[in-house]
Amino acid sequence: LRNSFAPKAGKQNLRHQYYLQPQASSSKVAILGAAGGIGQPLALLIKMSPLVSALHLYDIANVKGVAADLSHCNTPAQVLDFTGTSELANSLKGVDVVVIPAGVPRKPGMTRDDLFNINANIVKTLVEAVADNCPDAFIHIISNPVNSTVPIAVEVLRRKGVYDPKKVFGVTTLDVVRANTFVAQKKNLRLIDVDVPVVGGHAGITILPLLSRTKPSVSFTDEEVEELTVRIQNAGTEVVEAKAGAGSATLSMAYAAARFVESSLRALDGDTDVYECAYVQSELTELPFFASRVKIGKKGIEAVISSDLQGLTEYEEKALEALKPELKASIEKGVAFAQKQT
Ligand code: NAD
Ligand code: LMR
Repeated sequence: LRNSFAPKAGKQNLRHQYYLQPQASSSKVAILGAAGGIGQPLALLIKMSPLVSALHLYDIANVKGVAADLSHCNTPAQVLDFTGTSELANSLKGVDVVVIPAGVPRKPGMTRDDLFNINANIVKTLVEAVADNCPDAFIHIISNPVNSTVPIAVEVLRRKGVYDPKKVFGVTTLDVVRANTFVAQKKNLRLIDVDVPVVGGHAGITILPLLSRTKPSVSFTDEEVEELTVRIQNAGTEVVEAKAGAGSATLSMAYAAARFVESSLRALDGDTDVYECAYVQSELTELPFFASRVKIGKKGIEAVISSDLQGLTEYEEKALEALKPELKASIEKGVAFAQKQT
Protein backbone atom coordinates (compact mmCIF):
# COMPACT_ATOMS: atom_id res chain seq x y z
CA LEU A 1 0.00 0.00 0.00
CA ARG A 2 1.38 3.38 -0.95
CA ASN A 3 0.22 6.26 1.13
CA SER A 4 1.84 9.54 1.93
CA PHE A 5 0.52 9.30 5.49
CA ALA A 6 2.64 6.23 6.09
CA PRO A 7 6.22 7.06 7.06
CA LYS A 8 8.71 6.28 4.32
CA ALA A 9 12.21 5.33 5.40
CA GLY A 10 14.81 7.86 4.37
CA LYS A 11 12.30 10.29 2.88
CA GLN A 12 11.60 12.44 5.93
CA ASN A 13 13.70 15.31 4.64
CA LEU A 14 11.54 15.45 1.50
CA ARG A 15 8.29 15.97 3.39
CA HIS A 16 8.57 19.73 3.42
CA GLN A 17 9.04 19.81 -0.36
CA TYR A 18 6.13 17.43 -0.81
CA TYR A 19 3.74 19.89 0.81
CA LEU A 20 4.86 22.63 -1.54
CA GLN A 21 4.85 20.64 -4.76
CA PRO A 22 3.34 22.75 -7.51
CA GLN A 23 2.36 19.69 -9.61
CA ALA A 24 -1.07 19.69 -7.95
CA SER A 25 -4.23 18.38 -9.50
CA SER A 26 -7.43 20.27 -9.01
CA SER A 27 -9.52 18.39 -6.46
CA LYS A 28 -11.84 20.29 -4.18
CA VAL A 29 -12.50 18.97 -0.69
CA ALA A 30 -15.20 20.05 1.77
CA ILE A 31 -15.14 19.35 5.50
CA LEU A 32 -18.54 19.56 7.23
CA GLY A 33 -17.89 20.10 10.95
CA ALA A 34 -14.57 21.80 10.18
CA ALA A 35 -14.26 23.81 13.39
CA GLY A 36 -14.40 20.75 15.64
CA GLY A 37 -11.83 18.59 17.38
CA ILE A 38 -11.34 16.43 14.28
CA GLY A 39 -12.21 19.11 11.74
CA GLN A 40 -9.39 21.53 12.60
CA PRO A 41 -6.39 19.18 12.48
CA LEU A 42 -7.95 17.41 9.50
CA ALA A 43 -8.22 20.73 7.68
CA LEU A 44 -4.55 21.38 8.40
CA LEU A 45 -3.49 17.99 7.04
CA ILE A 46 -5.61 18.38 3.91
CA LYS A 47 -4.25 21.91 3.39
CA MET A 48 -0.83 20.25 3.16
CA SER A 49 -1.82 18.02 0.23
CA PRO A 50 -0.56 19.02 -3.21
CA LEU A 51 -3.56 17.23 -4.70
CA VAL A 52 -6.02 19.81 -3.33
CA SER A 53 -6.85 23.05 -5.14
CA ALA A 54 -9.62 24.22 -2.81
CA LEU A 55 -10.57 23.39 0.76
CA HIS A 56 -14.09 24.36 1.83
CA LEU A 57 -14.60 24.56 5.58
CA TYR A 58 -18.20 24.41 6.79
CA ASP A 59 -19.50 24.49 10.36
CA ILE A 60 -22.40 25.98 12.27
CA ALA A 61 -19.97 28.27 14.18
CA ASN A 62 -16.31 29.29 14.67
CA VAL A 63 -15.14 28.40 11.19
CA LYS A 64 -14.10 31.89 10.05
CA GLY A 65 -11.11 32.02 12.37
CA VAL A 66 -10.02 28.50 11.50
CA ALA A 67 -10.07 29.37 7.80
CA ALA A 68 -8.24 32.70 8.28
CA ASP A 69 -5.55 30.94 10.29
CA LEU A 70 -5.12 28.07 7.85
CA SER A 71 -5.14 30.29 4.78
CA HIS A 72 -1.75 31.75 5.77
CA CYS A 73 0.02 28.42 5.19
CA ASN A 74 2.00 28.68 1.94
CA THR A 75 0.55 25.55 0.33
CA PRO A 76 -1.51 25.62 -2.87
CA ALA A 77 -5.01 24.83 -1.59
CA GLN A 78 -7.28 27.85 -1.41
CA VAL A 79 -9.23 27.91 1.88
CA LEU A 80 -12.83 29.16 1.94
CA ASP A 81 -15.12 29.35 4.97
CA PHE A 82 -18.87 28.77 5.15
CA THR A 83 -20.87 29.36 8.33
CA GLY A 84 -24.39 28.15 9.10
CA THR A 85 -27.10 26.46 7.11
CA SER A 86 -27.55 29.39 4.73
CA GLU A 87 -24.00 28.75 3.42
CA LEU A 88 -24.12 24.95 3.39
CA ALA A 89 -25.17 24.62 -0.27
CA ASN A 90 -22.37 26.93 -1.46
CA SER A 91 -19.80 25.00 0.57
CA LEU A 92 -20.61 21.93 -1.52
CA LYS A 93 -20.75 23.31 -5.05
CA GLY A 94 -18.11 21.73 -7.32
CA VAL A 95 -16.67 19.57 -4.57
CA ASP A 96 -15.06 16.17 -5.33
CA VAL A 97 -14.72 14.79 -1.80
CA VAL A 98 -16.96 15.62 1.18
CA VAL A 99 -15.74 14.63 4.63
CA ILE A 100 -18.29 14.63 7.46
CA PRO A 101 -16.97 14.76 11.04
CA ALA A 102 -19.92 16.91 12.26
CA GLY A 103 -21.65 15.79 15.43
CA VAL A 104 -21.17 15.17 19.11
CA PRO A 105 -18.42 12.91 20.50
CA ARG A 106 -18.64 10.40 23.39
CA LYS A 107 -17.97 11.04 27.05
CA PRO A 108 -16.82 8.30 29.46
CA GLY A 109 -19.52 5.68 30.05
CA MET A 110 -21.22 6.25 26.70
CA THR A 111 -21.38 3.92 23.72
CA ARG A 112 -21.19 5.25 20.18
CA ASP A 113 -24.85 4.30 19.81
CA ASP A 114 -25.68 6.79 22.60
CA LEU A 115 -24.80 9.51 20.06
CA PHE A 116 -27.45 8.28 17.62
CA ASN A 117 -30.27 10.68 18.52
CA ILE A 118 -28.24 13.82 17.90
CA ASN A 119 -25.88 12.70 15.14
CA ALA A 120 -28.49 10.89 13.02
CA ASN A 121 -30.27 14.19 12.36
CA ILE A 122 -27.03 16.04 11.68
CA VAL A 123 -25.85 13.46 9.14
CA LYS A 124 -29.27 13.31 7.50
CA THR A 125 -29.39 17.09 7.01
CA LEU A 126 -25.84 17.33 5.71
CA VAL A 127 -26.19 14.42 3.29
CA GLU A 128 -29.43 15.92 1.92
CA ALA A 129 -27.39 18.99 1.03
CA VAL A 130 -24.67 16.83 -0.53
CA ALA A 131 -27.34 15.10 -2.64
CA ASP A 132 -28.65 18.47 -3.84
CA ASN A 133 -25.33 20.16 -4.51
CA CYS A 134 -22.58 17.62 -5.32
CA PRO A 135 -24.25 14.25 -5.88
CA ASP A 136 -21.18 12.86 -7.68
CA ALA A 137 -18.76 13.52 -4.82
CA PHE A 138 -17.08 10.83 -2.74
CA ILE A 139 -18.69 11.00 0.72
CA HIS A 140 -16.57 10.10 3.78
CA ILE A 141 -18.64 9.65 6.93
CA ILE A 142 -16.83 9.96 10.24
CA SER A 143 -19.73 10.96 12.54
CA ASN A 144 -20.68 8.20 14.98
CA PRO A 145 -22.28 5.75 15.25
CA VAL A 146 -20.74 4.99 11.83
CA ASN A 147 -22.48 1.58 11.79
CA SER A 148 -25.81 3.50 11.60
CA THR A 149 -24.89 6.88 10.07
CA VAL A 150 -23.70 5.28 6.82
CA PRO A 151 -27.04 3.46 6.30
CA ILE A 152 -28.78 6.78 7.07
CA ALA A 153 -26.70 8.58 4.45
CA VAL A 154 -27.44 5.87 1.91
CA GLU A 155 -31.20 6.07 2.52
CA VAL A 156 -31.11 9.84 2.14
CA LEU A 157 -29.24 9.57 -1.16
CA ARG A 158 -31.60 6.82 -2.37
CA ARG A 159 -34.63 8.95 -1.63
CA LYS A 160 -33.06 11.81 -3.53
CA GLY A 161 -32.42 9.42 -6.46
CA VAL A 162 -28.65 10.02 -6.47
CA TYR A 163 -27.23 7.07 -4.54
CA ASP A 164 -24.03 5.63 -6.00
CA PRO A 165 -22.83 2.72 -3.81
CA LYS A 166 -19.31 3.20 -5.14
CA LYS A 167 -18.99 6.62 -3.53
CA VAL A 168 -20.23 6.33 0.06
CA PHE A 169 -17.60 5.35 2.64
CA GLY A 170 -17.81 4.94 6.41
CA VAL A 171 -14.35 5.94 7.60
CA THR A 172 -12.79 3.06 9.55
CA THR A 173 -9.18 3.98 8.75
CA LEU A 174 -8.49 4.72 12.42
CA ASP A 175 -9.09 1.06 13.26
CA VAL A 176 -6.43 0.07 10.71
CA VAL A 177 -4.04 2.77 11.94
CA ARG A 178 -4.45 1.52 15.51
CA ALA A 179 -4.10 -2.14 14.55
CA ASN A 180 -0.91 -1.38 12.61
CA THR A 181 0.54 0.59 15.52
CA PHE A 182 -0.30 -1.93 18.24
CA VAL A 183 0.88 -4.94 16.21
CA ALA A 184 4.15 -3.24 15.27
CA GLN A 185 4.77 -2.41 18.94
CA LYS A 186 3.90 -5.89 20.18
CA LYS A 187 6.00 -7.73 17.57
CA ASN A 188 8.85 -5.22 17.27
CA LEU A 189 8.17 -4.64 13.57
CA ARG A 190 8.94 -1.54 11.54
CA LEU A 191 5.74 0.53 11.41
CA ILE A 192 6.16 1.20 7.70
CA ASP A 193 5.92 -2.53 6.96
CA VAL A 194 2.80 -3.41 8.96
CA ASP A 195 -0.66 -3.68 7.46
CA VAL A 196 -3.58 -5.30 9.27
CA PRO A 197 -6.98 -5.39 7.55
CA VAL A 198 -9.84 -4.55 9.91
CA VAL A 199 -13.33 -5.68 8.90
CA GLY A 200 -16.91 -5.58 10.21
CA GLY A 201 -17.98 -2.22 11.56
CA HIS A 202 -16.80 0.60 13.81
CA ALA A 203 -17.96 -0.05 17.39
CA GLY A 204 -16.83 -2.53 20.06
CA ILE A 205 -16.96 -6.15 18.94
CA THR A 206 -18.04 -5.15 15.42
CA ILE A 207 -14.42 -4.00 14.91
CA LEU A 208 -12.63 -7.18 13.79
CA PRO A 209 -8.89 -6.97 13.09
CA LEU A 210 -7.83 -9.91 10.93
CA LEU A 211 -4.51 -10.53 12.63
CA SER A 212 -3.98 -13.72 10.62
CA ARG A 213 -3.84 -11.48 7.52
CA THR A 214 -1.13 -9.20 8.94
CA LYS A 215 1.56 -8.18 6.51
CA PRO A 216 4.37 -9.04 6.88
CA SER A 217 3.36 -12.57 7.86
CA VAL A 218 3.76 -12.88 11.62
CA SER A 219 2.61 -15.46 14.15
CA PHE A 220 0.72 -14.62 17.32
CA THR A 221 0.03 -16.74 20.40
CA ASP A 222 -3.64 -17.17 21.35
CA GLU A 223 -3.04 -14.75 24.24
CA GLU A 224 -1.56 -12.14 21.90
CA VAL A 225 -4.51 -12.45 19.52
CA GLU A 226 -6.97 -11.96 22.36
CA GLU A 227 -5.05 -9.05 23.88
CA LEU A 228 -4.51 -7.22 20.57
CA THR A 229 -8.06 -7.77 19.34
CA VAL A 230 -9.60 -6.44 22.55
CA ARG A 231 -7.22 -3.45 22.61
CA ILE A 232 -8.04 -2.52 19.01
CA GLN A 233 -11.77 -2.89 19.68
CA ASN A 234 -11.57 -0.70 22.79
CA ALA A 235 -9.01 1.82 21.55
CA GLY A 236 -11.66 4.53 21.08
CA THR A 237 -12.81 4.03 24.66
CA GLU A 238 -9.17 4.16 25.81
CA VAL A 239 -8.95 7.71 24.40
CA VAL A 240 -12.41 8.74 25.67
CA GLU A 241 -11.41 7.71 29.20
CA ALA A 242 -8.01 9.40 29.00
CA LYS A 243 -9.69 12.64 27.85
CA ALA A 244 -12.04 12.30 30.84
CA GLY A 245 -15.04 14.18 29.44
CA ALA A 246 -13.20 16.39 26.93
CA GLY A 247 -14.21 14.27 23.93
CA SER A 248 -12.87 11.36 21.92
CA ALA A 249 -10.03 10.75 19.48
CA THR A 250 -9.40 13.84 17.37
CA LEU A 251 -5.71 13.95 16.40
CA SER A 252 -5.31 10.27 15.48
CA MET A 253 -8.70 10.49 13.77
CA ALA A 254 -7.62 13.51 11.75
CA TYR A 255 -4.46 11.63 10.76
CA ALA A 256 -6.52 8.59 9.71
CA ALA A 257 -9.14 10.67 7.86
CA ALA A 258 -6.40 12.59 6.05
CA ARG A 259 -4.90 9.29 4.92
CA PHE A 260 -8.31 8.24 3.57
CA VAL A 261 -8.80 11.58 1.81
CA GLU A 262 -5.32 11.38 0.31
CA SER A 263 -6.04 7.85 -0.95
CA SER A 264 -9.31 9.05 -2.51
CA LEU A 265 -7.55 11.99 -4.17
CA ARG A 266 -4.87 9.72 -5.57
CA ALA A 267 -7.58 7.46 -6.98
CA LEU A 268 -9.38 10.45 -8.50
CA ASP A 269 -6.05 11.53 -9.94
CA GLY A 270 -5.71 8.23 -11.81
CA ASP A 271 -3.63 6.09 -9.45
CA THR A 272 -4.75 2.50 -10.09
CA ASP A 273 -3.20 1.00 -6.97
CA VAL A 274 -5.31 2.41 -4.14
CA TYR A 275 -6.63 0.08 -1.43
CA GLU A 276 -8.14 1.06 1.92
CA CYS A 277 -10.46 -0.52 4.47
CA ALA A 278 -13.87 1.20 4.68
CA TYR A 279 -17.44 0.48 5.79
CA VAL A 280 -19.43 0.26 2.57
CA GLN A 281 -22.39 -1.37 0.89
CA SER A 282 -21.26 -4.96 0.61
CA GLU A 283 -22.13 -8.48 -0.45
CA LEU A 284 -19.25 -10.12 1.42
CA THR A 285 -21.62 -11.31 4.15
CA GLU A 286 -25.40 -11.41 4.52
CA LEU A 287 -25.26 -7.88 5.97
CA PRO A 288 -25.92 -4.99 3.57
CA PHE A 289 -23.01 -2.95 4.97
CA PHE A 290 -19.64 -4.28 6.04
CA ALA A 291 -16.13 -2.90 6.43
CA SER A 292 -13.41 -4.55 4.38
CA ARG A 293 -10.60 -3.63 2.07
CA VAL A 294 -11.82 -1.95 -1.08
CA LYS A 295 -10.04 -0.93 -4.27
CA ILE A 296 -10.71 2.71 -5.06
CA GLY A 297 -10.52 4.18 -8.54
CA LYS A 298 -11.58 7.34 -10.38
CA LYS A 299 -15.26 6.46 -10.11
CA GLY A 300 -15.16 5.20 -6.55
CA ILE A 301 -15.09 1.61 -5.33
CA GLU A 302 -13.91 -0.70 -8.10
CA ALA A 303 -13.83 -3.88 -6.02
CA VAL A 304 -14.73 -5.05 -2.54
CA ILE A 305 -11.90 -7.41 -1.60
CA SER A 306 -13.24 -10.80 -0.49
CA SER A 307 -9.98 -12.72 -0.12
CA ASP A 308 -9.29 -11.43 3.41
CA LEU A 309 -12.37 -13.30 4.65
CA GLN A 310 -11.28 -16.63 3.20
CA GLY A 311 -9.48 -19.11 5.43
CA LEU A 312 -10.01 -17.22 8.69
CA THR A 313 -8.75 -18.70 11.95
CA GLU A 314 -11.29 -20.28 14.30
CA TYR A 315 -10.98 -17.22 16.58
CA GLU A 316 -11.74 -14.85 13.69
CA GLU A 317 -14.61 -17.01 12.39
CA LYS A 318 -16.23 -16.94 15.84
CA ALA A 319 -15.68 -13.21 16.22
CA LEU A 320 -17.18 -12.63 12.76
CA GLU A 321 -20.33 -14.56 13.66
CA ALA A 322 -20.52 -12.80 17.05
CA LEU A 323 -20.43 -9.30 15.53
CA LYS A 324 -23.17 -9.86 12.97
CA PRO A 325 -26.26 -9.46 15.22
CA GLU A 326 -24.97 -6.16 16.68
CA LEU A 327 -23.99 -4.78 13.29
CA LYS A 328 -27.31 -5.88 11.79
CA ALA A 329 -29.24 -4.08 14.56
CA SER A 330 -27.22 -0.88 14.05
CA ILE A 331 -27.82 -0.97 10.30
CA GLU A 332 -31.54 -1.54 10.78
CA LYS A 333 -31.73 1.30 13.30
CA GLY A 334 -30.19 3.70 10.77
CA VAL A 335 -32.41 2.56 7.92
CA ALA A 336 -35.56 2.77 10.09
CA PHE A 337 -34.63 6.31 11.19
CA ALA A 338 -34.13 7.49 7.63
CA GLN A 339 -37.27 5.82 6.34
CA LYS A 340 -39.56 7.37 8.94
CA GLN A 341 -38.44 10.90 8.03
CA THR A 342 -40.76 12.89 5.79
P1 NAD B 1 -16.42 18.10 18.22
O1 NAD B 1 -17.59 18.35 19.09
O2 NAD B 1 -15.09 18.55 18.65
O3 NAD B 1 -16.67 18.74 16.78
C1 NAD B 1 -17.85 18.54 16.10
C2 NAD B 1 -18.10 19.74 15.21
O4 NAD B 1 -19.31 19.49 14.50
C3 NAD B 1 -18.27 21.05 15.96
O5 NAD B 1 -17.42 22.04 15.43
C4 NAD B 1 -19.73 21.41 15.74
O6 NAD B 1 -19.98 22.80 15.65
C5 NAD B 1 -19.98 20.72 14.41
N1 NAD B 1 -21.39 20.52 14.13
C6 NAD B 1 -22.39 20.15 14.98
N2 NAD B 1 -23.56 20.12 14.30
C7 NAD B 1 -23.29 20.45 13.02
C8 NAD B 1 -24.07 20.60 11.86
N3 NAD B 1 -25.38 20.39 11.87
N4 NAD B 1 -23.44 20.94 10.73
C9 NAD B 1 -22.11 21.16 10.69
N5 NAD B 1 -21.31 21.04 11.77
C10 NAD B 1 -21.91 20.71 12.91
O7 NAD B 1 -16.40 16.51 17.90
P2 NAD B 1 -15.21 15.65 17.26
O8 NAD B 1 -14.31 15.19 18.32
O9 NAD B 1 -14.66 16.39 16.11
O10 NAD B 1 -16.03 14.36 16.75
C11 NAD B 1 -16.98 14.48 15.73
C12 NAD B 1 -17.62 13.13 15.46
O11 NAD B 1 -16.66 12.19 14.94
C13 NAD B 1 -18.26 12.46 16.66
O12 NAD B 1 -19.51 11.92 16.31
C14 NAD B 1 -17.29 11.33 16.99
O13 NAD B 1 -17.90 10.26 17.66
C15 NAD B 1 -16.84 10.94 15.60
N6 NAD B 1 -15.59 10.17 15.54
C16 NAD B 1 -15.52 9.16 14.64
C17 NAD B 1 -14.36 8.43 14.50
C18 NAD B 1 -14.25 7.32 13.50
O14 NAD B 1 -13.32 6.51 13.56
N7 NAD B 1 -15.15 7.23 12.51
C19 NAD B 1 -13.24 8.73 15.32
C20 NAD B 1 -13.34 9.78 16.22
C21 NAD B 1 -14.53 10.50 16.33
C1 LMR C 1 -12.91 6.18 17.93
O1 LMR C 1 -12.84 5.01 17.57
O2 LMR C 1 -11.97 6.76 18.51
C2 LMR C 1 -14.14 6.98 17.62
O3 LMR C 1 -15.14 6.16 17.10
C3 LMR C 1 -14.60 7.83 18.75
C4 LMR C 1 -15.15 7.06 19.91
O4 LMR C 1 -16.24 7.40 20.38
O5 LMR C 1 -14.52 6.10 20.38
